[in-house]
Amino acid sequence: MSAPVTLLILGAGGDLTKRLLLPGLASLLAHHDHDVTVIGAGLDDTVRDGWTDLVAEAMHHAADEHPVDERRSDAEETDSVADESTPTERLIASTRYITADATDPDALTELLAACTGTPVIYFALPPAVTAKVCAALQKVDVPEGTRLALEKPFGVDEESARALNERIAAIVPEKQVFRIDHFLGKSTVLNILGLRLANRILEPVWDAGSIERVEIVFDETLGLEGRAGYYDSSGALVDMIQSHVLEVLAIIAMEPPPRVDEVELRDNVAQVLRNTELWSGDPVADARRARYTAGTIGDRTLPSYAEEKGVDPSRKTETLAEVTVRVKTRRWHDVPFVLRSGKALGAKRSQARLVLRPVSPIPGIEGTPREQTIVLDLMTGDVQMQLTMNGGGDPFRLEQSELVAHQDSGDLLPYGEVLRGILDGDPMLSIRADVAERCWHIVQPVIDAWRRDDTPLDEYEAGSDGPSGWRGDGPGLS
Ligand code: BG6
Repeated sequence: MSAPVTLLILGAGGDLTKRLLLPGLASLLAHHDHDVTVIGAGLDDTVRDGWTDLVAEAMHHAADEHPVDERRSDAEETDSVADESTPTERLIASTRYITADATDPDALTELLAACTGTPVIYFALPPAVTAKVCAALQKVDVPEGTRLALEKPFGVDEESARALNERIAAIVPEKQVFRIDHFLGKSTVLNILGLRLANRILEPVWDAGSIERVEIVFDETLGLEGRAGYYDSSGALVDMIQSHVLEVLAIIAMEPPPRVDEVELRDNVAQVLRNTELWSGDPVADARRARYTAGTIGDRTLPSYAEEKGVDPSRKTETLAEVTVRVKTRRWHDVPFVLRSGKALGAKRSQARLVLRPVSPIPGIEGTPREQTIVLDLMTGDVQMQLTMNGGGDPFRLEQSELVAHQDSGDLLPYGEVLRGILDGDPMLSIRADVAERCWHIVQPVIDAWRRDDTPLDEYEAGSDGPSGWRGDGPGLS
């Protein structure tokens, strides 16, 4: 069992706590022992009465989905003389909500005094409020070992991310800072490492010599889901590409780390992103944006984005973005990485697709070898490869076949995996300060061009696969 920790969630009344944090924590406790107390805090006093029920409900729901594994049950039985209750029951019995303004140093002092063991301050707050709380924390005597966990977006641009990093560095050392990107907690993303590095047939082709193009796509069928307050000032580029998609790119493109640990893995992620830049350097050529109009997805009818509640259409927020970048390392010389993410599309697609260079025809065998790809499905974890063979019927004609490897889903929800690192004090799966700034730097020219309205805002019908004119290999490539 790890040392006792109190997870102090600031902004605990928000959607994130209920939808992602508590279920993630429950999935973690179903598989690993942690002595954790949860304290929720926020300005909204109405959350207090229902708080314990909220925590209990999330825990029970997740317990059904993630039954406690047998090894854990045995271990608990051995401990049961001292305490009959499970870690989850103890957590539910001890949790509470404190109504407080965390931007006030006195209130923060009281919140920290309520924590037992090492406090983990979890900022489930918008960037502007996070910055204010950090300013208040600088005036507080923060207990030794306190960890800070910060939700994305980390700042609103490179400059604000740098200022926030400086502020945080004055509060606790970097190894106690956890900038959250839950994609790094997805087993499907982490599995890319094993797939790349533990397979003799894949490792040698994982470079520009064999790979012609890489596409990383996160298409969602969900629309705005009532999140205008956050999303309308972010858009697809900042919400997904600036953070999650660049992290996936880094895992795909990094050099093999000598060890998978907080130093080596994060150094190699940083190396990739330090060397990632727009494909041609021209943000208008290398990126495109679009916004959905009314349409139907399955049995749901969506209004146009511009008419969604809370949206200011004059902001011209994009709900679909595509950016082409290059990774300026020898391994990826001249290989375009096309990054795409959008909402309200006809089909959910989370995948990395590596397109292999064509092979020459085989004189004496009919047909030209077709495009061969390695597709990593980041939703299911499945891996799919095309193989060209000479066909069953006529052995002198080429045919295309497919190899698919299926994978079981991970034990932990992505937030469970990320929380595991936080509760253990291991920052391997969190974003390092330099990387948080660098990710803004990569997309900043595009943000600026879109703010200046240099790039047209295209339209696509909700439920379609994007604007009809968006064909071709990716922006800047056709
Ligand atoms: C979040 C974004 O970080 O990731 C959402 O803010 C997006 O807009 C979500 O829907 C996607 O994550 P997942 O785990 O649901 O694929």
